[in-house]
Amino acid sequence: MASRGERGAETPAARIQALVDDLNRHLRLYHGEDAPEISDAEYDRRFRELQELEAAHPELVAADSPTHRVGAPPAEGFETVEHRVPMLSLDNAMDADEMRAFEERILRALDREGSVAFLAEPKLDGAGAELVYEEGRLVVGSTRGDGRRGEDVTANLRQLGSIPLQLAGDPGSHPDRLSIRGEVVLPRAAFSRLNARRAERALEPFVNPRNAAAGALRMLHDVDLDRLRSLEFRAYGVAEGLPAAVRRQDQVLECLRGWGFTVSPECRVCPDIEAAIAAHADFLGQRETFPIEIDGTVFKVNDHALQRDLGELARMPRWAIAYKFPAHQETTVVQEIFASVGRTGALTPVAKLRPVFVGGVTVSNASLHNQDEVDRKDVRVGDTVVVQRAGDVIPQVVKVVPGKRKKGAKRYRLPASCPVCGSAVVREEGEVVTRCPNPACPAKLRNRLLHMAGRSALDIDGLGEKLVEQLLEAGLVEGPSDLFGLERDALLALDRMGEKSADNLLAALERARQTTLPRFLIALGIPEVGGGVADLLARRFGDLGPLRAAGQEELEAVDGVGPIIAERVRAYFDDEAHSAEIGRLRERGVRWPAIPVAEETQPPEGPLSGKTFVLTGTLEGMSRDEARSRIEAAGGKVTSAVSKKTDYVVAGEAAGSKLKKAREFEVTVVDREGLEALLAEG
Ligand code: IVH
Repeated sequence: MASRGERGAETPAARIQALVDDLNRHLRLYHGEDAPEISDAEYDRRFRELQELEAAHPELVAADSPTHRVGAPPAEGFETVEHRVPMLSLDNAMDADEMRAFEERILRALDREGSVAFLAEPKLDGAGAELVYEEGRLVVGSTRGDGRRGEDVTANLRQLGSIPLQLAGDPGSHPDRLSIRGEVVLPRAAFSRLNARRAERALEPFVNPRNAAAGALRMLHDVDLDRLRSLEFRAYGVAEGLPAAVRRQDQVLECLRGWGFTVSPECRVCPDIEAAIAAHADFLGQRETFPIEIDGTVFKVNDHALQRDLGELARMPRWAIAYKFPAHQETTVVQEIFASVGRTGALTPVAKLRPVFVGGVTVSNASLHNQDEVDRKDVRVGDTVVVQRAGDVIPQVVKVVPGKRKKGAKRYRLPASCPVCGSAVVREEGEVVTRCPNPACPAKLRNRLLHMAGRSALDIDGLGEKLVEQLLEAGLVEGPSDLFGLERDALLALDRMGEKSADNLLAALERARQTTLPRFLIALGIPEVGGGVADLLARRFGDLGPLRAAGQEELEAVDGVGPIIAERVRAYFDDEAHSAEIGRLRERGVRWPAIPVAEETQPPEGPLSGKTFVLTGTLEGMSRDEARSRIEAAGGKVTSAVSKKTDYVVAGEAAGSKLKKAREFEVTVVDREGLEALLAEG
């Protein structure tokens, strides 16, 4: 009997759906029920077939595709754990100039001149993890997950020899609660050994050490102890419980060593950005001799007071950056270029490539982004191209290999009409994006529905590609809100829709109705608003009403939201069609609790009432946050720019342009002592 995973004469859409269903079923059997029906190798083969099909047909990728969770068991496999302090990611620099620009941004933000010292650490290519210790004992270990919630993999992490179950050092000095951050890696030697062992048993080899490490952490049943014990945990940060005496990142690493953690021995302090660039060149030179794979150098502003002053954006700190090694490159051939239509109607040219193994994975298509990019690179069908892929970054076509072009190859132009609905496409002046303007274009609607059903949006379980297609074909859904008006009888009339599936979908919709404000904002699909920004907006405004009422300036004033995001948010809510859709979603029961927002309070009366301050440079023994809150508590106001209205400029070490401005406007300048005197007496 042919199982559902066997190939038949099917369309790509049908084959993809069959593979998704089949692989999800085997994942459940393997992880959930401990009763695998197929070998790992057979699973991997089907998985790769799905990956290749999805790469060739990005428009057909299902929301519930197992490729979205490489190596991960279904959600029910592990309990989830909240990271009390979110696990952030890092901004990237690709060359020395981007590093210098990073330093300039830092100096500007701190209003300092001169240089800043950085700590250089290898960027470990593994899986991020958090370990929580209470009174010195390991209590929970978790994966990074989406940065806010991860999976509880304590049992597996306990097997790693490099993870102390009990902290070393004087028990009296252990913080009540300590949260350690680090990377779980599989050293190269262990990777080779494990793959040799797999080959002996005719198992498919692991593609790269990172996947092998991430997969091992999430083994739920039949845990392979050898694989688990080959992993190594390298610590690089403390999110909670850092002793007060620790004031620099190099001291953090010392402290971690003292508690018994393994810290990369190559870490070193760089007094300025040029030293950092030189350290990176050293790491790159030694890359192949490192016992574990690294994909760049992480630089962190060493001084914690400066880190605090710099603060964080939605997803990443301003005080750290990953300077990446050059990407792995390969050459291959462009077999076809086609246009894919996204949820905003943007037409994206996609190059279908002869599959090539690069940077640890097989790449079979690459986005060419837009017409300008195609023109700039002049990519044509049949061309031999250089493709690259670095770490988790999406594959890119770097350039066409000159001299290999076939005669008669024509320049590629995006079609004049939408490949899905046939409407004439438009490209606004000054815009790079070509769009299908038809609000009813089935491709847009389809992708909007899939986006809304996605895991980080309303998370509508079971609403995948196939079902969305069916709902649209049957005319049951003309906009996202129609999902929440679906009736059982109408569902039952759909092809292959049984009572159980219909009830499951209705139950999933019922669960999705009760959501949170950030999820709802993500679900709306506002351009530029992903998880991080949605969180920031939700926390600042608390509910949809105040957010919709906020003007451009008010939006820009949210830390982490720049002018572009503010403009997109404003434009989204100004569109009446969007308001109408939001109204319908609410009428159909989509709801969320408001988030308490701190009331804007009148400044307290105090010795500094009515006085305006600007802070610049580093104050000795006082962080900027502390200076600001003490001035505010005494009734004063702190602003960022010096003007004639400024009463005092508080200048610390390495003060920059604001000090010059203060002199220009003849504003009184005080140091830390002067500030203390003002705080005491006004
Ligand atoms: S620090 C707030 N240090 O890279 C700073 N991360 O792209 C965030 N990583 O999720 C992390 N080596 O899993 C830091 N020495 C290192 C690292 C490192 C590898 C990973 C980490 C993080 C990702 C960010």
